[in-house]
Amino acid sequence: MANITKSAVIFFFQILLRLSLLLAVSMAENKLIEGVGILGEKDSKLECATAYGVRGGDNCTSVAETFSLSPGIFADINPNVDCNDLLLGQWLCVQ
Ligand SMILES: *[C@@H]1O[C@H](CO)[C@@H](O)[C@H](O)[C@H]1NC(C)=O
Repeated sequence: MANITKSAVIFFFQILLRLSLLLAVSMAENKLIEGVGILGEKDSKLECATAYGVRGGDNCTSVAETFSLSPGIFADINPNVDCNDLLLGQWLCVQ
């Protein structure tokens, strides 16, 4: 009688252990994904506090001058912008 109870308790704890391990792993994965998301968000916010929509006749130089940015800083905060091919309505970071 006592033996049966003991093995039942051990069995129960083994299942509990496996479940908590699984839970811990999935929680760690969630945190990892969350961390990457927060980092990415932080980066884009830091680099682009203000955006400007391209209008006809704009070019990188004129937009940078409008917002008192040096060409170097403008290029740094707009790493994916092709200044030779600006599109109307395209968003540029200006701060
Ligand atoms: C950019 O636009 C300004 C003002 O419209 C103009 O003076 C300048 O020549 C243009 N620069 C280029 C590279 O097209």
